[in-house]
Amino acid sequence: MQTFTIPTQSYLKRRQLFAQHMQTGIAVIPTAPERIRNRDAHYPYRFDSYFYYLSGFTEPEAVLVIVAKTDKAPEKHILFCRAKDKEREIWDGYRYGPEAAKEVFSFDETYPVTQLDEILPTLLANQTVIYTALGHDSSWDQRVIRWMNQVRDQIRTGVMAPERITDCRVILDEMRLIKSSEELQVIQEAANISVQAHQCAMQTTKPDKYEYEIEAELLYTFNRLGARFPAYTSIVAGGANACVLHYVENTAKLKSGDLLLIDAGCELHGYASDITRTFPINGKFSAAQKDIYQLVLNAQTAAIAQVKPGNLWNDPHQAALRVLAQGFIDLGLCHGSLDAVLESEDYKRFYMHRTGHWLGMDVHDAGQYKQYGAWRALQSGMVLTVEPGCYIRADDKVAEHFWNIGIRIEDDVVVTASDHHILTAAAPKTIADIEELMQ
Ligand code: GLY
Ligand code: MN
Ligand code: MN
Repeated sequence: MQTFTIPTQSYLKRRQLFAQHMQTGIAVIPTAPERIRNRDAHYPYRFDSYFYYLSGFTEPEAVLVIVAKTDKAPEKHILFCRAKDKEREIWDGYRYGPEAAKEVFSFDETYPVTQLDEILPTLLANQTVIYTALGHDSSWDQRVIRWMNQVRDQIRTGVMAPERITDCRVILDEMRLIKSSEELQVIQEAANISVQAHQCAMQTTKPDKYEYEIEAELLYTFNRLGARFPAYTSIVAGGANACVLHYVENTAKLKSGDLLLIDAGCELHGYASDITRTFPINGKFSAAQKDIYQLVLNAQTAAIAQVKPGNLWNDPHQAALRVLAQGFIDLGLCHGSLDAVLESEDYKRFYMHRTGHWLGMDVHDAGQYKQYGAWRALQSGMVLTVEPGCYIRADDKVAEHFWNIGIRIEDDVVVTASDHHILTAAAPKTIADIEELMQ
């Protein structure tokens, strides 16, 4: 299946915008290292999101350098990457090499990454600020400090050493938070694939299958449609397992009469999708399951209605909480007035997480949730999840027909100019639609 890819010129424009925000100095941004799983086997390679956001370059062993313009010199974009290597390419496949990378990814200069330690100190000389991300990888931190010290060692020759290291993520997080129309197109395509995976899961679920068989349907659908990896480890949780928020074992047998909670989303061209659906393993909700399911769905509807420009980040969460807390009171799960339950946070026995997060290249994406101590306002181009839930463990204080019901309903929502758009709306979620699809 053909999917949309962001043109390389868009990455160049992002670098230019980032350099404008820097105003002065040099940014040095490495991609992620390859990671060994065991002995000679590696984890599937995933580039660093910040590096990829500014380069579109997916090979490992690469470092991006951006030098802001000065009175004397124009802005410069430099890529260090693996050199061409006939022998290695026979074993591991094509690599661009500096020459082709320069053309294809619109860099001003490119060098073999083996020259990084030699060239970087010359680029840091006479720069006042280094933009990089410290505290993320200690070997990287030490390398940056070594380069700085190498420049300091030359100060008697008249070279000026950088005065400070600034976190490049402060600028980049704000840029990543507002998605361009191209990014939205990729996220929509990722969402469409995940929708199909959830539909397939609903259609193939039957009592006595195992959770991993349903996980296989999800991964198969992602791959079949061109999304090679899940954006995070899929949660396929039958019955009581759904009450373990980060359950990823996915090894249990599915029982008729239980619900199945699936939290799964693919990554496509570096962008995540993140959907949760919960449905009855035998295709029919019981009365108690219906009560809780409809409550969570009502909470989600109320929360999504709050997603619009100008509303605060926390408004969807507050809306979901009010609906859930009132529902818990009505169903006899919590006691007292709505205000009292909200005040005491007694609802946390059944709903203990927040209602969403930013979504983008990372499933829990970059971007601050508060600014100057207050929840930030939603703006057109922000993408977030809305994912209320209810998790009821076996407990003497709870009516037994509610035991082991774990439900979450999660959609991906973009803030538009005047309202919102649900990217994952096509995944069935009303009781009627789910029961019909599962017939
Ligand atoms: N799938 C991770 C989350 O929902 O936050
Ligand atoms: Mn989520
Ligand atoms: Mn999720």
